[in-house]
Amino acid sequence: MMSPEIETIRQQLPGWLEASLPCVGRGKVASYIPELSKAPHDALGITLMNPQGESVTAGDCGLRFTMQSISKVFTLILALMDNGEDAVFSKVGMEPTGDNFNSMLKLELVRPGIPFNPMINAGAITVSSLIRGESPNEKSDRILQFLKELAGNTDLEYDLGVYRSESDTGNLNRSIAFFLKENGVLSGDIEKVLEVYFLHCSIAVDCADLARMALVLACNGSDPLTGKALIPRRYVQIAKTFMTTCGMYNASGEFAIQVGLPAKSGVSGGILTFVPGRYGIGVVGPALNNKGNSYAGVHLLQSISREMDWSIF
Ligand code: DON
Repeated sequence: MMSPEIETIRQQLPGWLEASLPCVGRGKVASYIPELSKAPHDALGITLMNPQGESVTAGDCGLRFTMQSISKVFTLILALMDNGEDAVFSKVGMEPTGDNFNSMLKLELVRPGIPFNPMINAGAITVSSLIRGESPNEKSDRILQFLKELAGNTDLEYDLGVYRSESDTGNLNRSIAFFLKENGVLSGDIEKVLEVYFLHCSIAVDCADLARMALVLACNGSDPLTGKALIPRRYVQIAKTFMTTCGMYNASGEFAIQVGLPAKSGVSGGILTFVPGRYGIGVVGPALNNKGNSYAGVHLLQSISREMDWSIF
């Protein structure tokens, strides 16, 4: 038998999803990575999972999409596990930017020219360079293995079509990376750093994969379904703080007020979020608002969080 709260969610979820569906018409599927423009504009799906492994789903929760910026949470955690806090935060800051996710504005404006935080592109590219491994292949493999373990899914793989599409067109990210090299933040072969970054952005998942990864964060780094300790609690605490302050980019303040949960979005329309100790949540809705977050996905999370009184604030 399901626990009472998740039973309430199971009954209410179809109605909440229905009420959010009209929002898809107000959003736009990302097209600056050409392959992403093939995503279904009107899709919306969600999976919630509790520490007992009970899950509730609605809508297009089986849709496969790429993690994009959601992967930044986990590369940060892996870089912290590989290098420790001091080394990571000598290369990337801890502050929100108020700028777009792919902005390089402040790299020139604010000394010492290190990225403001690991959730924006400049910061995440820097973090990719800190992953341990002799080659881009070895680094990428370690990231993929880590995500497979967190998702409890050995079948996770790259969407190489999306990877190539981004790699062929990623001039802005290339510019950011070269700027970072000029500022002494990156060193060595920039293309090798970008290969690792583009590859982890292209890991394909569905809502259940995101919900299970989020559940590990919700449980302070332990997988409640296997009992394995996967992430040190301190690094979950750091990731959680960045998700709350920078995870929805320059809409993080609004999301904190309207939803009140740590979250991370991606331009494919995915959102990973969680209710501490209680639920891991994965959402997808490829039509985005002007800040690059899923239009309907944010609306849906707002309804659920308000109704269930989940804000952590
Ligand atoms: O670097 C990029 O532009 C993409 N691979 C990821 C950006 C992203 O997901 C921003 N999210 N809202």
